[in-house]
Amino acid sequence: MKQLLRSNQDKILSPRWVDKSVLVTGGASFIGSHLVDKLVQLGANVSVLDDLSSGRLENLEESEHRIKFAKKDLEYISKGEIRSLFRDQDIVFHLAAVHGGRGYIQTHPADVCSNLSIDHHVFEAAAASNLENVVYSSTACVYPDALQSKVGSEYKLKESDSDPTRLDFPMSADIEYGWGKLMGEIQLNAFIKQYGMKGCPVRFVTTYGPRENETHAIIALIFKAIARIDPYSIWGNGNQERDFTYVEDIVDGTLMAAERIFDGTPINLGTGKKSKIIETVEQICNILNWKPQKFKFEEYMPVGPLSRALDNTRAKDMLGWEPKFSLEEGLRRTIEWYKNKHGDWKDKRILLERSL
Ligand SMILES: NC(=O)c1ccc[n+]([C@@H]2O[C@H](COP(=O)([O-])OP(=O)(O)OC[C@H]3O[C@@H](n4cnc5c(N)ncnc54)[C@H](O)[C@@H]3O)[C@@H](O)[C@H]2O)c1
Repeated sequence: MKQLLRSNQDKILSPRWVDKSVLVTGGASFIGSHLVDKLVQLGANVSVLDDLSSGRLENLEESEHRIKFAKKDLEYISKGEIRSLFRDQDIVFHLAAVHGGRGYIQTHPADVCSNLSIDHHVFEAAAASNLENVVYSSTACVYPDALQSKVGSEYKLKESDSDPTRLDFPMSADIEYGWGKLMGEIQLNAFIKQYGMKGCPVRFVTTYGPRENETHAIIALIFKAIARIDPYSIWGNGNQERDFTYVEDIVDGTLMAAERIFDGTPINLGTGKKSKIIETVEQICNILNWKPQKFKFEEYMPVGPLSRALDNTRAKDMLGWEPKFSLEEGLRRTIEWYKNKHGDWKDKRILLERSL
């Protein structure tokens, strides 16, 4: 057992994962695959459902011999089939979603609405399956843009700024993707209210790390620096601020939330620190020991809210979670992975898509 518990936060995680039957929807994704690897390390019996629309089987290479994988489209799956896939599970982590970087979600507003049906199918089957918990991958996009519109603001988004348990309060979210996830949280709470289902919405902020692709900000920025693209293009004016959080911290927080929250209470996972895109680019360039002669600011490209960070007080108080990785350390690890993995970056294009 001792070998299974590796980091400090693993000690906070209880041994309850050993021999648990755990299903991860969207488990071939960037975040999903890290969660799968961690669950396998903790001794769980892990199954993955994914349609591989943006997820990749290569993301699961580390755990492939120790998990069950089924390629399933959860948007069109029948009630009978999804119920039978959930029947013998103890816990479901629901990460499957039509999602991508800012470029994708802003240019595919209709496609992301598929998440309403994917979420409904998952929650309906979960309610019929007597699970111990359903953990829902929500997002910082459930918060109103108006609270994130001022560069330099010190405001951190609190769970109460969008509360799926207070339907009499005004709510607003960040474009269709954010509204869809907020509706996902409201649906999850509806199943809890009506059927006594157990559930936990976890709000991930801008996550980065190995296995992410170039359609997301950090990997796109790393790609451009490694490929020595000069002038180096930056979407917007570079002053927009984000709470970049390393994937291992997100996975730890998600597992801790799964152990402790069952009543639909949403929980933020983010460092609470804001970094400007231009400063992050400088950090990446320093690590790579290179600097472009010129920056080209593409102000017409989608940038999203101007100043975003999550208040993580609730995660600290309820879970004992704290992010372990500084941005510097997380960037170094991600750059190291990217250099080893992507010898062919010159052939890659940066698209408004969700996978390359
Ligand atoms: N990456 C982030 O910064 C971030 C931030 C907040 C929330 N999230 C959420 O975390 C989850 C994982 O995101 P990610 O960034 O790791 O990668 P992602 O967006 O690629 O993950 C989505 C996964 O769902 C799968 N999928 C899509 N449609 C499906 C369908 N109809 N049936 C079955 N599987 C389907 C994809 O193949 C993919 O593996 C998503 O729910 C996303 O909304 C991510």
